[in-house]
Amino acid sequence: MLTIKKENAILGATVENLDLTAPLQETDKRELSKALAENHVLFFRDQVISHKNHRDFGLAFGTLQSHPSYPSIDGHREITILKNDAENPSKIDEWHTDMSCRPIPPMGGILVGRIVPDTGGDTLFSSLAAAYEDLPEALKKSLEGMTATHSFAFGFRDSLAEPGGRERLQDAINKNPDVVHPLVRTHPVTRRKLIFLNRIFTSKINGLSKPESKDLLNSLCDHMVQDKYVCRFKWRQNSIAFWDNRSVLHVPVNDYLPALRRMERVVISDTQAPA
Ligand SMILES: [Fe+2]
Repeated sequence: MLTIKKENAILGATVENLDLTAPLQETDKRELSKALAENHVLFFRDQVISHKNHRDFGLAFGTLQSHPSYPSIDGHREITILKNDAENPSKIDEWHTDMSCRPIPPMGGILVGRIVPDTGGDTLFSSLAAAYEDLPEALKKSLEGMTATHSFAFGFRDSLAEPGGRERLQDAINKNPDVVHPLVRTHPVTRRKLIFLNRIFTSKINGLSKPESKDLLNSLCDHMVQDKYVCRFKWRQNSIAFWDNRSVLHVPVNDYLPALRRMERVVISDTQAPA
């Protein structure tokens, strides 16, 4: 029987007594779904899993999607490779929701640590529900009904500016036009309200002037990532993090160069647009 050990009161829990090389039993799947909704992100240690195990674990929770611009495992288009070292440092250094620029953003991500630096390279997660619940009531009221634009082209603006970037990404840009999402969404399982913005993909808050949009975006993004809403995951080889992409922002800490950090990720599709 698997066990769930909370890492802190707000978010994050470690799952023990579960072998992910074996098919996931229905009862374990239900326990994990429940634990994920409650804790926002689940951690696993010492799981020496194959690519097929990784894919099957993701498939237990929904359909999988590939990434429009990242490399993937041969024969497993759905497993994205996130490999960074001194020659290829990570370009992701902002808190974000994965692919919030999609009409239906992913419900979750499952990241496996394949090559983990001796020090550094942690991942931070913050609770969007706790951050929302702490907002002053007047601000909550004023955010009701507001929307924001999320943009793939905005999210990949640094890559686009690189030599050849526009050519490499044009097809993905064409296939991922800007989308509008509610600024506050309700989690489909827990019914908790969540602030739904991030500095990577949110290009503007609609209905505001440019400076007003920037100010509100900055103040809400700063609010969401205060230490009291954050848990830190220290990777070891064969560790796994499974996050609810609706409930958290996350960010890698890029403090390990020149060491190599190689992670592999599957992204699980959601079934409904944010509302
Ligand atoms: Fe991410």
